[in-house]
Amino acid sequence: MYQHNIMKLSLRPPEDPFKPMFDRLDTKIPLINPPSATKRIMSGAFGQTYLHIDAETKKKYAVKVIDLTKPSINAGELIKNEIENYYDISHKCPDYFCQFIGYHYDNNILTIVMDYCGMDFFEYYAHMLADNKTSLRKKFAMLKSIFTQIAEALQCLHQHGYVHFDVKPENITVQKNPNNNKIKVKLIDAGSLTKYSTNPVRVQGTLDYMAPELKHAYLPKYLQKTKKNLPSSSVTPGYVSNADLGGTDIYSYGKMVQAYYPTLFDDDFMRELTHPLPFRRPSLPEILNKLRGSSSSSSSSGGRRRRHTKKSRQP
Ligand SMILES: Nc1ncnc2c1ncn2[C@@H]1O[C@H](COP(=O)(O)OP(=O)(O)O)[C@@H](O)[C@H]1O
Ligand SMILES: [Mg+2]
Repeated sequence: MYQHNIMKLSLRPPEDPFKPMFDRLDTKIPLINPPSATKRIMSGAFGQTYLHIDAETKKKYAVKVIDLTKPSINAGELIKNEIENYYDISHKCPDYFCQFIGYHYDNNILTIVMDYCGMDFFEYYAHMLADNKTSLRKKFAMLKSIFTQIAEALQCLHQHGYVHFDVKPENITVQKNPNNNKIKVKLIDAGSLTKYSTNPVRVQGTLDYMAPELKHAYLPKYLQKTKKNLPSSSVTPGYVSNADLGGTDIYSYGKMVQAYYPTLFDDDFMRELTHPLPFRRPSLPEILNKLRGSSSSSSSSGGRRRRHTKKSRQP
């Protein structure tokens, strides 16, 4: 009898460690069959993203495929962010976050299907530079529109209690409406999309755009690298408390303006945007007021001669 039970136990297939995490998800989030992908758009920190074109409607979709067994992945957090938070925000900010369509899970592989929202800003900027037909004046006006829409998108996100945590050119898409030539900007990548909560949240993001208060909290790895001491504030290494979380996105926004259009704002305002103290950074309404009140500067130092390289997120 005892022998028989052991046999039965050892023949049982191993439990899927991720299944309970999916079982906890809200059932109203669409579960779909994964579409056949056509062309790889990008390999990111956590997965691969493909382009899928529906054979009938010709509509384009982006398909993100993530292997949850990858050691750098915190599966519970990723599933919550990429599915639950993404679904929620894409309903709350449909004009500013690329639309979530559905997800599929099988055999450790998570597939997220979303609208295809155009080239990312990193690629778009490179195309803009290479384009000789568009005047410089027009290009600066386009950049101003892009940065205005990014600020509006962050405002929508923050108003609904979310922090993006990984604002950078690779996580922003730009699409031109062929009918009126207007530019539409959307945020993508819900990998770090976090809800403000009473608990400290784990620090994530891309070092080049990461606010200093996050860098200091970002695992001792960074501190060792920079030989800096831990700040005496209440941060736990690797985690950050709830206060001023939104300011971290504003810092990343400031770093992006600095790199891509440093003359968009006056020098004082630029300094404040990336101020080391979060409370010194302007709020999103202040940024938007400034943008709406100013005429776009077409100074030739608008970041054109810088070399930009893609940056990847720290796991
Ligand atoms: N919905 C989308 N529309 C267009 N391009 C996308 C979309 N989602 C992702 N991409 C492209 O794929 C890249 C990687 O996707 P992302 O979600 O940022 O993954 P990762 O978490 O690996 O950074 C993006 O930088 C962008 O170039
Ligand atoms: Mg990304």
